[in-house]
Order: sequence, then C-alpha cells, then structure tokens
Amino acid sequence: MPLIAWDESLSIGYELIDDQHKQLIALASKLRAAMSGDRDRQVGSLIVIAEIIDCARVHFATEERLMEERHYPLMASHASLHVDAMRKAVDLRCQYVSGQPEFALSLLEFLEAWLINHIQRSDKALGLFLAATASVSECTVLA
Ligand SMILES: [Fe+2]
Ligand SMILES: [Fe+2]
Repeated sequence: MPLIAWDESLSIGYELIDDQHKQLIALASKLRAAMSGDRDRQVGSLIVIAEIIDCARVHFATEERLMEERHYPLMASHASLHVDAMRKAVDLRCQYVSGQPEFALSLLEFLEAWLINHIQRSDKALGLFLAATASVSECTVLA
C-alpha cells in the first residue's frame, strides 16, 4: 500500500478536525518509518503505536463533543465507528506485543485504510453538517 499523505481533498472544512487528521496521518507515516528502521524496530514501533492510540482518543473525543453540541443526527453511528476502530487497533497492538510481529503491519495497513476511508465518508459528512449548522446559528443571532 502506498504511503498516505495529507492533501486538500481530505479537508472536511473544519480547521481543528483537519489539524488532528493531519497529525494522525503524520503518525501513520512515522509508524511506517519506525517499522522499517534497522534498530529497536519493535520498541520504536510500539512507542509510535501508543502515540497514535492517544492521538486518536483525543481526536474521537473532539469530534464526538462537536456532534453532541450540534445535536448531530448521525452521532450514534459515527461514534460507534470510532469505538470499533479503537477496539481493533488496541487488539492488533496486543497481538503485536504478545510476540506476533506481523500484526504491526496489519495495524499500519488497517490504520491507513481506515483513516482515509473514514475521513472521506463519515468525517466529511460531519464537516458539511458543522458548516450548515454554523450558518443556521449565525442566522438565528442576526434575526
Ligand atoms: Fe476524524
Ligand atoms: Fe470520525
């Protein structure tokens, strides 16, 4: 699978979320680099995997807070995708830690594919809703 990189086609039009997505994509690249390093490959990879899981937790909480504040109608299904992804990432990490090195690559490939797919579908839908509800509240203030 090719290295993933941020480009404007991944923007959901909400700066805070875009910045967090950029950070997650950069961490995926960092994990790929750590996995191909010559020395301390497992230690380096595990450090980056921990960073990714922490960063994803913060990011999911940010999106879910915004969904809740704006009463996003698709919140339950969107948040459940976050829960499933976190569960899968933690599970793959555990298998890697327990001495199955092939799970590091599985985790990286899952992460890259999930991120791009989730941003392009679910997060973009959220971005449109955030833009729409922002203008509605501005209109209400002006009325
Ligand atoms: Fe996201
Ligand atoms: Fe999301």
